[in-house]
Amino acid sequence: MRPFMIAAGMALTLGILAGCEPQDALSGRNDFQTYCAGCHGTDATGGGPLARDLGLQPPDLTLISRRNGGAFPFTRVMSVIDGYTRKNQHGSKMPAFGPLLEGPKVMLPYDNGAVTPTPAALVALARYLESIQR
Ligand code: HEC
Repeated sequence: MRPFMIAAGMALTLGILAGCEPQDALSGRNDFQTYCAGCHGTDATGGGPLARDLGLQPPDLTLISRRNGGAFPFTRVMSVIDGYTRKNQHGSKMPAFGPLLEGPKVMLPYDNGAVTPTPAALVALARYLESIQR
């Protein structure tokens, strides 16, 4: 069990470093449909059925890179999702993503050089969003 999980974690980490991991992309897409599409829409452009009642338009998540000068802000996107840097804006509107963040972790190298254990599901979600940038 344990060696398997370590091996799975390493495979995921290597996949992330290689910039491509089919399973990773799949779980990111599934989680997006489960946890995010209600507000951001199934195509992530912002028109989910819950968006109407928010009083705040969920941004088009396929244009994150475009809004950021062409680069996908991977770390910032993850921190928005997990609430780490989120203040009241997104936080007050967002449900708790606890189950998403409690699963297995992968070691992820951050912009500042630190390698930090990061929930695999969170990485998969951010990677999925990166894959749908227009
Ligand atoms: C209850 C509605 C709701 C749900 C569910 C929701 N969001 Fe959001 N999201 C918003 C709103 C509203 C904003 C814009 C306001 C803000 O950022 O505070 C936002 C902003 C964001 C941003 C910032 C975009 C940018 O360009 O800065 C990201 C990334 C994001 N959401 C990802 C997600 C992901 C991934 C999920 C699912 C795990 C999710 N959201 C679930 C309502 C929601």
